[in-house]
Amino acid sequence: MDKPVVILAIESSCDDTSAAVIRDGILLSNVTASQKVHEEFGGVVPELASRAHQLNILPVVDTALKRANVTKSDLSAVAFTRGPGLLGSLLVGTSFAKGLALSLNIPLIDVNHLQGHIMAHFVQTEGDQLPHPSFPFLCLLVSGGNSQIVKVEGYNRMTIIGQTIDDAAGEAFDKCAKVLGLPYPGGPWIDKLAKLGNPQTYHLAEPHIPGYDYSFSGLKTSFLYTIRDLMKAHGVDSVEALVEQVPNLKEDLCAALQTTIINTLMRKLRKAAKDLNINQVAVAGGVSANSGLREAFIDYGKRFKWSVFIPPFSFTTDNAAMICQAGYYKYLDNDFCSIDEVPFAKTQI
Ligand code: KG4
Repeated sequence: MDKPVVILAIESSCDDTSAAVIRDGILLSNVTASQKVHEEFGGVVPELASRAHQLNILPVVDTALKRANVTKSDLSAVAFTRGPGLLGSLLVGTSFAKGLALSLNIPLIDVNHLQGHIMAHFVQTEGDQLPHPSFPFLCLLVSGGNSQIVKVEGYNRMTIIGQTIDDAAGEAFDKCAKVLGLPYPGGPWIDKLAKLGNPQTYHLAEPHIPGYDYSFSGLKTSFLYTIRDLMKAHGVDSVEALVEQVPNLKEDLCAALQTTIINTLMRKLRKAAKDLNINQVAVAGGVSANSGLREAFIDYGKRFKWSVFIPPFSFTTDNAAMICQAGYYKYLDNDFCSIDEVPFAKTQI
């Protein structure tokens, strides 16, 4: 009998230290340590993130191996996120993966974080019968750092057909949340408040960018100007004072922001699906946890006869399970990397 393919993956691109183990394509463990240290700063502080990764990585990897009931000697390869992400954070995972692979004399697999998010759709646990997209499909990849429409023609064949020319959708959620005094990351808070608001009360400018590209910086400005004008109209000089004066202000602004972001994302996705005649459509990345976006996917699926694929909540934000899945396909393709590879901060798929 052939030896099973057992892969350990490490994800450390931003502020989550995560390790996962897969055996013959079945996920055995996925362990993540999140970093609370950034909350008081209203965003991720790169230096603090890399220090926290250094503290977390050993216990996280150890727990992932134990939960999977495998030992280091069972491993066939070590996969790691090479980028894009914060360089200091990536360096911790990359160095750890290199050291481990070198000491065990097994191959090293570099994984693009964005491809990993898309591969979250293929993660399989024992006994799960979830449907997976078939090729070719379109994936709307929306996270804190990226907003892209990707055409996926194979596990290792992907092309970006549209992307943001400035801010990412998640960044727009987070920055507008900060203006309202909401904690970081703001996306989940906006999601919660939007459910209690009326999206028609305030009108925010929708970006008009040609082709399949996105832009969210103008929306952020429109959000700021709306608040500035309201403050002027009510004769107050702080957002807190405005919130006290205007009933349901936060809820209505969050509903308007969320609806505008979703409409912008979905319109371009619909255009791409129509132009390319593709009806398998998936969503991935942290923002895919948004309840409004999930509903919009189901709605568009019904209206335009798409088969839609929405990842389980546990695989929407950064996790090593998706890196393991991508690493597994690269292993099957004998696509390994050299020990000299270095992390990268920005890239395309
Ligand atoms: O993919 P991810 O975990 O990290 C990156 O690689 O960027 O995405 C994080 C982003 C943050 O901007 C966060 O606010 C957003 O995902 N997010 C949400 C929700 N949950 C997370 N945005 C809107 N609604 C949510 N429910």
